[in-house]
Amino acid sequence: MSWRNGVVYQIYPRSFQDSNEDGVGDLAGITARLDHLTWLGVDALWVSPFYPSPLADFGYDVSDYVDVDPMFGSMPDFDRLVAAAHERGLKVLLDLVACHTSIQHAWFRDHPEWYIWSQGERPPNNWTSAFGGAAWSRFQDDKWYLHSFYPEQPDLDWRNPDVVAAMQEVVRFWVARGADGFRLDAIDRLAKDPELRDDPLSDEPFGLPLLDHERGRDLRYSRNAEWIGEALAAIRDAAGDALLIGEVYLPAAKHARYLEHLDRSFVFELILSPWEPGNLRAAIAAGATGEGRSGPGAAWALSNHDFGRFPTRFGRANERAAALMLMTLPGTATLYQGDEIGQGMGPGGDPPYDRVGRDMFRHPMQWDGTPRAGFSSAEPWLPLTDPAERNVAAQREDPDSLLWFWRELIALRRDLAPGFRMLESDPGVISYERGDNVVAVNAGDAPAVVPPGEIVLATSADLSQSRKLRPGDGVLLTR
Ligand code: NOJ
Repeated sequence: MSWRNGVVYQIYPRSFQDSNEDGVGDLAGITARLDHLTWLGVDALWVSPFYPSPLADFGYDVSDYVDVDPMFGSMPDFDRLVAAAHERGLKVLLDLVACHTSIQHAWFRDHPEWYIWSQGERPPNNWTSAFGGAAWSRFQDDKWYLHSFYPEQPDLDWRNPDVVAAMQEVVRFWVARGADGFRLDAIDRLAKDPELRDDPLSDEPFGLPLLDHERGRDLRYSRNAEWIGEALAAIRDAAGDALLIGEVYLPAAKHARYLEHLDRSFVFELILSPWEPGNLRAAIAAGATGEGRSGPGAAWALSNHDFGRFPTRFGRANERAAALMLMTLPGTATLYQGDEIGQGMGPGGDPPYDRVGRDMFRHPMQWDGTPRAGFSSAEPWLPLTDPAERNVAAQREDPDSLLWFWRELIALRRDLAPGFRMLESDPGVISYERGDNVVAVNAGDAPAVVPPGEIVLATSADLSQSRKLRPGDGVLLTR
């Protein structure tokens, strides 16, 4: 199986491993922990932004696209990370934040014409920022600039060929430096209506359970404009064969025009789904049909740095069944750091949230059971959740642990044949054919019968005797 259909491990660098005793993770820390990734058997790592940034959005506000923030290390640290990963056969994916820069990027000062402006007493339209409020902020007296996210993140104008050329240069820079691919941040926000028309009010939901303040609008002009293909083609042109995974925050049914140029796009239906059979089935069915440039177009994740960690969201009892599901879906499976040991969000939302509540998805990695979890010898930038109950070292010692279960699944994924088809099943069960195998997961509240076939892997030991799929059970069978 090509690595493109394998497993990508997402690293949030602030929280993975600190190597210089400042309580914040860094690139050298990632290099030091690569053996964990090879032991798990993943194919690639995706590193969330580590570029110079004033950190208004923890690195998703980039002030220099072709350097490393001193907090995370240096360019030689990056080169060492890539070399060490490649030595181990791991591919390296970077985060390309192409929709907006930091307001402190020199481009904003030196090339204001690279951004999106409007003149007047009021903002030109009703577009909203993903984090709430108007997507326009005043600059000097009567000028407004567009920001799809925080005001510290002005949107670039991708209709300007100089912007396209500058970002192509960024892509070429990292490819030459060893990057094997990119996760394209907020790519559905790259192209918007050049006429800046109002998003129409509408009772029709946009298609995903979006943030509350976006409900009641058809967001057809503030994103996803027809001409997105031109921008994506330019990125593809610079990236060559590098793997391109889009963060396309739209229903998967609307991803086709992205997948003409990209290899994969994230299926947000799954990451937003509760543990409920109807929702899960619909999410899988929606995502599994797209075709990207290099095969099945879906990129799947159960957790990431923006949305809830899956053990808390789905419930502990469903942890293994969810893992089995993720690892048997077609396309690219993404594992967020800590998913492998079942890191959760912490009781009662503790530790404290940041201003948009995303801290609870970003706790430091729990490597061992010591008070600082082996993450740092200094006070971690964000409190740990539960290192004594859940950590890599303890689970490595226990072959029945979740960590070992993931490892087995990752190994099995390599042998899965292509081909995917949803199967009819009990209302509470999600079942699909995957190559020569069948998967059945009970996300309902009543027991069900295990479908025919020999059991290859099951979430609980006694399933093979009882052939009873209790709620929270999952099974991989031969066809
Ligand atoms: C999506 C990223 O995942 C998120 O963390 C960030 O805040 C926004 N894009 C803006 O870059």
